[in-house]
Amino acid sequence: MRFVTTRAVRQPVPAGADGDEGLTAAGVSLRTAMLEGLAPDGGLYVPESIDVWKPGEVARLRNRTLTEIAYRVLRPYTRPELDATTFEAVVVAALNFPIPLVEVEPGIFSLELFHGPTLAFKDVGARTMARLMASLDSGDQPLTVLAATSGDTGSAVAHAFHAVPHTRVVVLYPEGRVSPTQEAQLTMFNSEDGNVRAYAVAGSFDDCHRLTKEAFADVDLRKRVRLTSANSVNMGRLLPQMVYYFHALAQAAHKSAAQEIVVCTPSGNFGNLTAGLFGKRAGLPIARFVAATNANDVVPAYLDTGVFAPRASVQTIANAMDVGNPSNFERMQWLYGDDLEAMRHDVVGSRHSDAEVRATIKRVYHERGYLMDPHSAIAYLGLTRYLGQEGRIGVFLATAHPAKFSEIVEPILGHSIETPGPLAEALARPRHVLKINASFDAVRRTLQS
Ligand SMILES: Cc1ncc(COP(=O)(O)O)c(C=O)c1O
Repeated sequence: MRFVTTRAVRQPVPAGADGDEGLTAAGVSLRTAMLEGLAPDGGLYVPESIDVWKPGEVARLRNRTLTEIAYRVLRPYTRPELDATTFEAVVVAALNFPIPLVEVEPGIFSLELFHGPTLAFKDVGARTMARLMASLDSGDQPLTVLAATSGDTGSAVAHAFHAVPHTRVVVLYPEGRVSPTQEAQLTMFNSEDGNVRAYAVAGSFDDCHRLTKEAFADVDLRKRVRLTSANSVNMGRLLPQMVYYFHALAQAAHKSAAQEIVVCTPSGNFGNLTAGLFGKRAGLPIARFVAATNANDVVPAYLDTGVFAPRASVQTIANAMDVGNPSNFERMQWLYGDDLEAMRHDVVGSRHSDAEVRATIKRVYHERGYLMDPHSAIAYLGLTRYLGQEGRIGVFLATAHPAKFSEIVEPILGHSIETPGPLAEALARPRHVLKINASFDAVRRTLQS
């Protein structure tokens, strides 16, 4: 499979016409798509076509384990760059935690994506990408992953690459502007002999972002250091996110006789939803997606009006979804060949206020004994509102453990909540905070050291 950019090819090549028959001249390998991150023309990489499953194979999903599913879903995109044995080792090492489907109330299921090391769905994409990068890379020098973070992404990337051979990670985060829990998770690998370093930059997140951009633009530096990014638009993070939609349907088949189900994805940058739409295109029996947002609702507004109008983001309690100009919208348009009606057929928008989210976290906890973080609560709201009460069956994606957002969840409940093992362990470790000033010189020295 080759990878093309959304700006060069406006929609997927139809099944059967893909691949090795000459349509791929403009495409790049998975390795290049992952190492470059963004395409040189400013577009986003996408697979040239979506591998479509036969109905019989979809029906047999229920008999497969998570890693078997991951292997089957992702194999068409890694062949022929990785041999079968190496690729199998990648998925087995990356997806070494469960992703259970839990019934919260009759017909309403939560896909719990927060059982990985950083307790959020990002572990799936980041861990798989780290191992794919390490396996596909053939350079002599180690690959340096440089990332700026306002908190969460940096720790998912740091954990994902920790101890992965031939890679090293440099994370920049704004000193004093991440939560103590986030700082503990970011800095827990800062030891002399590890391959991960997280630096507290004396500045803002914008400074961290500017410094990474300067590094990527510095031709001289890039001759000396093999730099790559691991941000959320990278194909290597997006493709693995398809896997859990298949795994959700496999588990749902054991719990319900429904032929088709509705899935609700809490959305900010819309990578998570895009991966689900790839899954539907591959043949998953998902009747509809609900794209649930907080007040940052440019995609639901587009589905209502046909006008895509990005704007400055507004702050909400589901802050990882405070995105005013979602990057992956470009991939969604590519998937539907710019056909609004076709997108509306598959996706319905839903937007939710902080007040609704707070009330829902409280109500579901008291009525069902099920605790959700604000992002997962938006997904629950989107699903239940869409389905109404009668004969409903649907899955919502629970993207983060509630303990990651304890500062929001605890005041809503009026009591403290338990800290899960991996978080408690990060908090208990001695903290090695490495500080640097917000100058490019300092970052360059760090990268060359
Ligand atoms: C906990 C959580 N839920 C949902 C999302 C939204 O995912 P996406 O940006 O792919 O739409 C994010 C994004 O970072 C997140 O951190």
